[in-house]
Amino acid sequence: MDKKLLIVGNWKMHLSVHQSSLLVHRLGERIAHHRDVEVVIAPSMLALQPLSVEIDRRRFRLAAQDAFYKDEGPCTGEVSFAMLGDLVHYAIVGHSWRRLNAGDTLDVVRDKVQAAIRNGIAPIICIGETKQERDAGEAKQVIHDQLTTALMNLTSKDIENVVLTYEPVWAISTADGIIAKPHDAESMISYMRSQVQELYGERAAKNMRVLYGGSVNEHDVRSYLELPEVDGVLVGAASLNYHQFAEIVRVAHQLQTERK
Ligand code: 13P
Repeated sequence: MDKKLLIVGNWKMHLSVHQSSLLVHRLGERIAHHRDVEVVIAPSMLALQPLSVEIDRRRFRLAAQDAFYKDEGPCTGEVSFAMLGDLVHYAIVGHSWRRLNAGDTLDVVRDKVQAAIRNGIAPIICIGETKQERDAGEAKQVIHDQLTTALMNLTSKDIENVVLTYEPVWAISTADGIIAKPHDAESMISYMRSQVQELYGERAAKNMRVLYGGSVNEHDVRSYLELPEVDGVLVGAASLNYHQFAEIVRVAHQLQTERK
């Protein structure tokens, strides 16, 4: 596989602007520029602007954690993808926390994906089932519904910029602390690719970058990254610790080097 591995740190609602600058500085001291690994940081909305001047853009790219689906208007308190166009390469869309707590319905996620693409931002779309849905045997149906609505009305050109993430909601650190086995991740990600193939053909499915977005740390990340279906990871808690996140990037680079 000659795709770069994509390692995304989702800082969620943590760190002040000052703490964010400090963390980026520490990461800069520990993470080298690798041609085979792309490192993306998703700080709070407030920290995006200062970090965009502080980061070494050869080594790090920025992602928003969310944005609003309209480009402008009376939407008080919102920030649009149009406003973020100059600052970020990526935006996380449909993170499970937002789907469950902030009104990101299937249709809202679809509109946000389209707004991101319209403004030249690559959406990192999170897709995954809750524990209840999994226990009820509905996991594939949920993934099918989330994936097909999120990708609705996109052209095959648009699709080239989309990144998907399988985020088993039951396997993130804020949930029950259960870990998804690499095998679980692989079979769901294969299923996601088969859906993309049905909608956009074999080439799109093969080229699509699909990340694993359940909990990982520096010790177990290799077992996910070495799966042929997995093109990277969306890291939560471990991305707030510079030792752990730098180590995750190092493991990714080592794996790529071994593959050559
Ligand atoms: P944790 O790595 O904290 O489990 O979070 C995963 C996640 O939600 C990434 O966006």
